[in-house]
Amino acid sequence: MEPKRQVIRFENAGKCFSTPARPEVWAVRDFNLTCLEGELTCVLGPSGCGKTTLLRLAAGLEMPTMGKVCVNGSAVTNPPENIGVVSQEGDLLPWRRVLGNVALGLEIRGLDRQERTERAKKAINRVGLPSEVVQSFPHELSGGMRRRVALARAVCTNPRILLMDEPFSSLDELTRHRLQAELLQLWLSDRQTVLFVTHSLEEAVFLADRILVMTFGRTVAEFRLDLDRPRDRLGDEFIKVLLEVRRALTEHENAAADVS
Ligand SMILES: Nc1ncnc2c1ncn2[C@@H]1O[C@H](COP(=O)(O)OP(=O)(O)OP(=O)(O)O)[C@@H](O)[C@H]1O
Ligand SMILES: [Mg+2]
Repeated sequence: MEPKRQVIRFENAGKCFSTPARPEVWAVRDFNLTCLEGELTCVLGPSGCGKTTLLRLAAGLEMPTMGKVCVNGSAVTNPPENIGVVSQEGDLLPWRRVLGNVALGLEIRGLDRQERTERAKKAINRVGLPSEVVQSFPHELSGGMRRRVALARAVCTNPRILLMDEPFSSLDELTRHRLQAELLQLWLSDRQTVLFVTHSLEEAVFLADRILVMTFGRTVAEFRLDLDRPRDRLGDEFIKVLLEVRRALTEHENAAADVS
C-alpha cells in the first residue's frame, strides 16, 4: 500500500503575538504535527492554549513567527485553496439568507448563480437542514441550525481539508450528538483531512483517529484511536479511551495550575 500523503504539516511552528498590553504571548510553540490525507485529528486543551491560533496558521490567516506550516507540501503564505473553515463563532453574515451564506465560497470563486444555487442547496440537504430554510435569515434559526449552515458553507466548495474550531460548542448534548454523527457521515463519504478543535473529550473520542492534548501552545499528549465507527459512547472500549484522555488532560491541567 502506498504511504498516505502529508496534507497539513507543522514543523517546529511557533506564533508569538505582541500587543502593548501583552508584548510577548507565545500562543503556539515548538509545535510539530503531520496530518495525513483523510485523517481526522482532534485537538483538546484548556481555553487560551492556542487551539484557534493553530487552525488560523493552517488556514493561512496567521503567519508563523518560527518554524514552518505547510499545506500539501508548500509553506502556507496566504489562505490556501480548497480549505473549508468553520470558525469558533460560526461567522454567518446576518444580512444574508441561508442560501447566500452557504453559497459565499462559491461566489468568491466566481461560479454562476445557477450553479451556486444548486450546489448550496445540495450542501444544505447534506447537513440535514430542511430545504425551506434556504430563504431564512440566520437569526430566525436555532443555534443547532446555524451550526449546520456553517458546516454546509464549509463543505459546499468540496474542500479536501476541513478546519473546524469548536463547531458544535454551546449546544445541548442531543443536538451535539446528532451533528457529530452527521459530520461523521460526511467525512466517511468524502474523507477530507480534518483538524477539529474541541473542549469536549467525548466529542474527540467519538470522532477522532488521533487526539492531541495541548497546553501552553504545545502538544503534551497524543492518542491514536482504532475503535470501529460509529462508536458506541457507552461501550467499554470507548469509556476506557475517554478515561485515558481525561487522565492526561487532568495531569497537565494540574501541572499548568502549579506554574500559574
Ligand atoms: N490576534 C491576537 N493578538 C494578541 N494575542 C492573541 C491574538 N490571538 C490570540 N492571542 C492570544 O494567544 C493565546 C491563545 O489564543 P487562542 O485563541 O489560540 O486560544 P484557544 O485555545 O483557541 O482558546 P479558547 O478555547 O478560549 O478558544 C491567548 O493568550 C490569546 O490571548
Ligand atoms: Mg479558540
